[in-house]
Amino acid sequence: FNTFHWHLTEDQGWRIEIKKYPELTEVGAYRKETLIGHGGKKPFKYDGKPYGGFYTQDEIKEVVKYASARHITIIPEIEMPGHSLAALASYPQLACTPGPFEVATRWGVFEDIYCTKEETFEFLENVLLEVMDLFPSKYIHIGGDEAPKARWKECKTCQGVIKREGLKDEHELQSYFIQRMEKFLNSHDREIIGWDEILEGGLAPNATVMSWRGTEGGIAAAMQNHDAIMTPWSHCYFDHYQTNPETEPLAIGGLTTLEKVYSYNPIPDTLTRRQSKHILGAQGNVWTEYMTNSDYVEYMILPRMAALSEVNWTYKSNKDWESFKPRVQQHFLMYQRMGYNYCDHPY
Ligand code: ACM
Ligand code: ZN
Repeated sequence: FNTFHWHLTEDQGWRIEIKKYPELTEVGAYRKETLIGHGGKKPFKYDGKPYGGFYTQDEIKEVVKYASARHITIIPEIEMPGHSLAALASYPQLACTPGPFEVATRWGVFEDIYCTKEETFEFLENVLLEVMDLFPSKYIHIGGDEAPKARWKECKTCQGVIKREGLKDEHELQSYFIQRMEKFLNSHDREIIGWDEILEGGLAPNATVMSWRGTEGGIAAAMQNHDAIMTPWSHCYFDHYQTNPETEPLAIGGLTTLEKVYSYNPIPDTLTRRQSKHILGAQGNVWTEYMTNSDYVEYMILPRMAALSEVNWTYKSNKDWESFKPRVQQHFLMYQRMGYNYCDHPY
């Protein structure tokens, strides 16, 4: 791995200091409480404990420097237009409805997203100017996933933009949103990455697609001569359980075993040789809803991260699970020596 994709903003918290917009961290970095357990059954139960925090710009510079000294590039992600409740709690005027909004206290997808009004673009551009000052990476991730269109359908301003721009529907409005942000970032010599929903309503001209709902988004991008990063939910989500959920610490769900990760082939068979050059690699995703400390993060990524590393650098016909098993045991010795908390029973 040579890249760290840092997801810095969410419904449940805004985690990066932006000097121009202090409320993002004064308000948006904190939630009043957190859902207990999975919340499958209503009414939801909450812990009643305020939770939050953020990275100052000085701290971020330190992390970027630490990574760079180890040849790791950090790609920051600022989510838009969805997963933005923490920002809307801080600046409700950026939403389609008057609010007020609260930083989310449970997980999932929320209908309140950024409005497509000019004020939103001005805000996001100012945020990205500060982000670009902190992160020298060629790429900036702009999110783009899971943005429900309910508010845009009812909003006079958003419907006005659809009319003004001659767009067909709210999906094309999302595409307009992303393309505007792309133009802005391109004008600062940066390129965008977005989750695979940015394909809907038409791909921005220079965008790289991060394929998460499956491999289809990555395939579609490569076929349109766009770059793609593969991180399908089925093989690359390290927030899933890695062995029997009944005996594991609480996780969000799913079951993605070490063997399953190892079985992944990032280059889809359906692509031609030329198209497959657009697949830049595969990413492991670590969403930390249920990981409240770094020990737990280590447990969830080790050793699955080792499996995905080998997947990334090994031609598929050379991969061999039976040979990987004893070799990963050698890594366990190294993890022990380095004091890492890892899953010692992954098969
Ligand atoms: C995602 O997992 N919503 C990208
Ligand atoms: Zn609106």
